[in-house]
Amino acid sequence: LDELLQEGVNGRRVLVRADLNVPLDGKTITDDGRIRAVAPTIKALAEAGARVVVCSHLGRPKGAPDPAFSLAPVAKRLGEVLGREVAFAHDTVGTDAEAKAVAQGDGDVLLLENLRFNKGETSKDDTERAEFAGQLSAFGDLYVDDAFGAVHRKHASVYDVAKLLPHYAGWLIAKEVEVLSKLTGKPEQPYVVILGGAKVSDKLAVIDNLLDKVDTLIVGGGMMFTFLAAQGYEVGSSLLEKDQIEVCKDYLERAAALGVELLLPVDTTTAAEFAADAEPLTVPVDAIPAERMGLDIGPESAKLFAERIAGAKTVFWNGPMGVFEFPDYAAGTRTVAQALVDSEAFSVVGGGDSAAAVRTLGLPEDGFGHISTGGGASLEYLEGKTLPGLDALEK
Ligand code: 3PG
Repeated sequence: LDELLQEGVNGRRVLVRADLNVPLDGKTITDDGRIRAVAPTIKALAEAGARVVVCSHLGRPKGAPDPAFSLAPVAKRLGEVLGREVAFAHDTVGTDAEAKAVAQGDGDVLLLENLRFNKGETSKDDTERAEFAGQLSAFGDLYVDDAFGAVHRKHASVYDVAKLLPHYAGWLIAKEVEVLSKLTGKPEQPYVVILGGAKVSDKLAVIDNLLDKVDTLIVGGGMMFTFLAAQGYEVGSSLLEKDQIEVCKDYLERAAALGVELLLPVDTTTAAEFAADAEPLTVPVDAIPAERMGLDIGPESAKLFAERIAGAKTVFWNGPMGVFEFPDYAAGTRTVAQALVDSEAFSVVGGGDSAAAVRTLGLPEDGFGHISTGGGASLEYLEGKTLPGLDALEK
């Protein structure tokens, strides 16, 4: 983007792909983090006199207009964040979008309606996608991709458009790649990775790619029970992926062979049922009652994890330690997040759920080195995969 701004964009039409896929409660945006994260790129282009046409997806509508997934509330919030008017087109590449794009003056910003109201956006058929990309590319002389959260998708607006227009990476993508590439390279040690979230099967590729790079791998959240089962513990009615027990055994063995510490919880806070008002009971991991399920790591584990974080120089955290949406089961996630805030380490929060936890629990965003705007995208980056959106920008 710096290169482009130096070249000059005054009067040029710039199509910006953003990831404005924010959580909504009806028409109310419950977390505007992604809007704020991409705003500097849009603002810089508009201030430099570009005619900016922004496009994004929101949720997963089925390739046709659906009012529940309209970007209209996002246009309003984007305008507030940018401190300038944002026009909104009620279609993506139709007559309203065309008319509003033609009416743009230098420095004006227009947001198109949800890309996924069009079948071509997510189509697996190359021709269908290319056709939609062609329609979309008519809105720009240039294309700036700053939708980091969507770079793992081979979608028309992320992948195919880059083939049709001169393309540039926005500041958000540049920052995300700079930070995440440190984590897959040789970050300053001790390097601690904390993984949580419900399923171990979602994290296998990340573990595979990072296991030989870390000093300590901490496992919490629902996925911890499959690891505990692999160690021979009874986990009651906790989440358990039976088909992954052998895989977890293998990780435990590989970690030991590599001299990597694979740190598991020593206690867990359990409930008799999956409900916010279920009475919590904390037990050591070798005494989980058969009829109870662990919904959080226990306080001893949280303390242990916080100590490791305090001693680290680099920390990557992905996935909550428990069901943080239930106040009685949020303590583990809160302690880990607070330890990241308190530590001197370069700390990166990745994944939609952990970023949401930071905000839900009211932790200061500036207490972290970086909070990734990518959920699936940051995970796939750390898995070492080639991401279609980044690949297209490099070509
Ligand atoms: C995300 O929320 O991770 C991105 O916006 C991508 O959304 P998707 O998983 O619906 O493609």
